[in-house]
Amino acid sequence: MKKLLVTGSSGLIGSEVCVDFAAEGWEIHGIDNNQRAVFFGPLGDTRWNQHRLEGAIKGFVHHELDIRDRQGVLDLMKQLRPDAVVHTAAQPSHDLAASIPFADFDTNAVGTLNLLEAARQHAAEAPFVSMSTNKVYGDAPNELPLKELETRWEYADVAYWNGIPETFRIDQSKHSIFGASKVASDVMVQEYGRYFNMPTCALRGGCLTGPSHSGVELHGFLSYLIKCNLTGKKYNIYGYKGKQVRDNIHSHDVARFIASFIAAPRAGEVYNIGGGRANSCSILEAFQMIAGISGRQMTSEYVDQSRSGDHICYISDLRKMKAHYPGWGITKSLADIFREIHDSWAGRAETAE
Ligand SMILES: NC(=O)c1ccc[n+]([C@@H]2O[C@H](COP(=O)([O-])OP(=O)(O)OC[C@H]3O[C@@H](n4cnc5c(N)ncnc54)[C@H](O)[C@@H]3O)[C@@H](O)[C@H]2O)c1
Repeated sequence: MKKLLVTGSSGLIGSEVCVDFAAEGWEIHGIDNNQRAVFFGPLGDTRWNQHRLEGAIKGFVHHELDIRDRQGVLDLMKQLRPDAVVHTAAQPSHDLAASIPFADFDTNAVGTLNLLEAARQHAAEAPFVSMSTNKVYGDAPNELPLKELETRWEYADVAYWNGIPETFRIDQSKHSIFGASKVASDVMVQEYGRYFNMPTCALRGGCLTGPSHSGVELHGFLSYLIKCNLTGKKYNIYGYKGKQVRDNIHSHDVARFIASFIAAPRAGEVYNIGGGRANSCSILEAFQMIAGISGRQMTSEYVDQSRSGDHICYISDLRKMKAHYPGWGITKSLADIFREIHDSWAGRAETAE
């Protein structure tokens, strides 16, 4: 039986990967210490998801380990010698990072290095997939000329119709403290591929979402927006007239790409992974879509100050992923995603009235 080590296993992407690989017959080991609850308070708690995995996956082993614990990571990797590693544990919020720069960098940059080096020592042949972010491009995408449409911003240059490619520059822009720690992680993942010829890749996520997200205002855009709709909580729109565009990908389609890479790995790759143009929406468009599903109008307030370093229009160019892995494509439409998140929140205690 093949062994998979997943960090951040109680989080959105980690838990999806655990479930999908278990269904394919892998033995699953998860690392998570519920740090999300430390970062975001009780509303970010992911224990519910850990317990869900323990119930749903036969033989699932939860390791209560902090990826900043270098010796602990080395020891576990030596003990397990996994056949593949999927690294999703992170401090994921670009807004929060500025108030906790040490915890952010230690988790995102040093935590990744701890795992890479442990893998090099004890599982060098194992494909190593690490979640990166489109914030590695900083606010450089905002330099692209945009045109204002009725409900969204749009690239004015048709050369970007398919979105931002992996060749877009990553330096000399404002990243947020989070984006900078993720750049360090992303470049180190590439380096272990190029320098040590390990089968690594960094996935630069757009908006990754799905029913297993514990969305909070500081992280998890659609999950949080839909939760606000269900509970009648006021949603704050930060700048750009609410026309800022995000491309949304279901965690299942992320997990499917990770499986494609693990089945046929390459060394030191980067991919932009998001929903692409078909799954893009602005905040104003998201308000309309969720109202159509729940029958409730959004309550919102406009704050005339955008988030520092926030993208105005970001769409991931998926062509490199599709060229390298032609069997992969988006299977969950934006409507599917809205419906699933809606139904998940409707069944969770936090949204009970
Ligand atoms: N969700 C998105 O929209 C999005 C977008 C771009 C990139 N990403 C990246 O994808 C990855 C996964 O994101 P997610 O949305 O699943 O996040 P998440 O917060 O839902 O899951 C991360 C998990 O990691 C755990 N964790 C955090 N620090 C840890 C530590 N030091 N030791 C052990 N466990 C720890 C948390 O408790 C949490 O359960 C992250 O690298 C994130 O930066 C996410």
